[in-house]
Amino acid sequence: MSDFELTRTLDEHASEVALRADVLHGLTRSPKVLPPKWFYDARGSELFEEITRLPEYYPTRAEREILLERAREIASESGARTLVELGSGSSEKTRHLIEALPALDTYVPVDVSESALAGAADTLLAEHPGLRVHALLADFTGPLQLPETPGPRLVVFLGGTIGNLRPPERAEFLHAVRAMLSPGDALLMGTDLVKEESVLVAAYDDAQGVTAEFNRNVLAVINRELDADFRPDDFEHVALWNREQEWIEMRLRARSELSVKIRALNLVVPFAAGEEILTEVSAKFRQDGLRSELAAAGLELVQWWTDAAGRFALSLSVADGPGLRPAEPAAG
Ligand code: SAH
Ligand code: AVI
Repeated sequence: MSDFELTRTLDEHASEVALRADVLHGLTRSPKVLPPKWFYDARGSELFEEITRLPEYYPTRAEREILLERAREIASESGARTLVELGSGSSEKTRHLIEALPALDTYVPVDVSESALAGAADTLLAEHPGLRVHALLADFTGPLQLPETPGPRLVVFLGGTIGNLRPPERAEFLHAVRAMLSPGDALLMGTDLVKEESVLVAAYDDAQGVTAEFNRNVLAVINRELDADFRPDDFEHVALWNREQEWIEMRLRARSELSVKIRALNLVVPFAAGEEILTEVSAKFRQDGLRSELAAAGLELVQWWTDAAGRFALSLSVADGPGLRPAEPAAG
């Protein structure tokens, strides 16, 4: 018998209201912009998994290399009984941690993709029949109601997804994570590192065009959910390195002058030839910068590991002041 529970903090209505607001706001301003969380319907989640297997997309392999090497060390430092994972996706790499944590009681994957949560839970419960999985369908940038579970708690945020948040969102997010941590809890976070431009750009503009399809998937989501008439092939996939901000930008560039009807918003969106929508930023980090962002949120960086090639880092941080969760009453 499997022990799986799913809590939906985002019902379909709330999600549609949020999409409407993001599309209305993002496509009526200049330059046009869309938040990256809308890539991840079932098809988008599948495409992301395909990206992780591309020869050019090194972050997943580099992060798995570090996890395989450090899982025991992380497990013994944290002794976690609850593992909370933000933006868990397929939970594919997390399995190495779950296997290394003998006292683990509950895994709490948090994601906006219901198909990803369901697929991950199926696989994990087949491998670990004793594990409790309490999934949360939720936006990790909003307030999170975590289930009551035993500590210590290890919060993990893998894949470099922190880089998909802008600096002010990142600061707010890290403060919220800090508030989830009690003494003895920790945050394990994956961050992609600044490196040669050609390597970075290739990772976001692969030869097979999978990333291009992932990028255009946001248009298919808007077509379906808001009854719009985007023709995804009218838009070219663009990936470029922004040297000042040290982030990759993914954009969709109109191949010609065109207009799009978004019936659910009663809106017509004009595009000039060459006009772009900024669909994602993917920030790349340096150790010092990350340490100060963590410190600004009340988090202390205590471990920093990279893959052998120095492309990607996993960091372990703890709350630097008194914790917020009350201590559990002593047994007996
Ligand atoms: N952690 C996995 C997946 C990374 S892909 C890995 O390392 O491979 C990013 C994941 O975050 C996707 O599963 C996506 O659905 C989820 N996601 C993106 N924005 C989100 C948000 N605002 N709230 C919750 N989940 C989000
Ligand atoms: C989920 N996130 C860390 C990925 C990244 O690399 O920024 C999303 C992605 N976008 C294009 N390829 C992968």
